[in-house]
Amino acid sequence: MVIGLMILTSIPTITGVGQAYSAQKTQEERQKDEARMKKFHIDVLCDLNSPYVRDIHENRIVLKDDRVWVGPKGAVNPCSQGYVAEAFYIEYPDNERNPVPLGLVSQTRADPPLLNWIYVDKSTMEVKYGNKTASIEHHVGPWDWSDDERVIIFDDAAQFTAVQHPGTWRWQLYQDMKEDGLAGYVPKGRRKVQINLIRTLMPTAT
Ligand SMILES: *[C@@H]1O[C@H](CO)[C@@H](O)[C@H](O)[C@H]1NC(C)=O
Repeated sequence: MVIGLMILTSIPTITGVGQAYSAQKTQEERQKDEARMKKFHIDVLCDLNSPYVRDIHENRIVLKDDRVWVGPKGAVNPCSQGYVAEAFYIEYPDNERNPVPLGLVSQTRADPPLLNWIYVDKSTMEVKYGNKTASIEHHVGPWDWSDDERVIIFDDAAQFTAVQHPGTWRWQLYQDMKEDGLAGYVPKGRRKVQINLIRTLMPTAT
């Protein structure tokens, strides 16, 4: 798992004078990192007046075929519809990006375990997952959370779009970065719903 290396490189180092202050700051930073690295499932919230409430409201996000989907309510792994996202935040390790964006990663399979970045494909506006090579040329962040740490934010936006694949129960996750209803990315007439993504913290292993 490559991610182990990423975690190490993201821990701030202390250098030079003012060690007491630096040490304290580092501890704060570390606590912040710990909070960011708490694993969560991702649940969908949609407007209760939406005609598709029953299909997607409070359903859980799953990962399958490099793409991100609205899965069953309360799903846990193993799940027949995909790998239930088990996500957390960590800096995306790319020296070319300044400031370094906070990335979102998820385990994407159990055996052997694999962590991938969740990102927005710049050509299709689909939310996808993949390794660093697959993700680096796309929109890898910044991911964030709302002030109450409940709502997932991408590039300062709390809204995502779920798009139904015609004639199926499958809703795929998109990010309407241009805020134009995904014009040019999704064929006209597809059912689309604005949604929020909520962090549901996973029980910590004991
Ligand atoms: C990264 O993902 C790409 C395709 O998504 C794959 O071809 C490549 O082998 C992967 N690289 C590593 C190091 O796993």
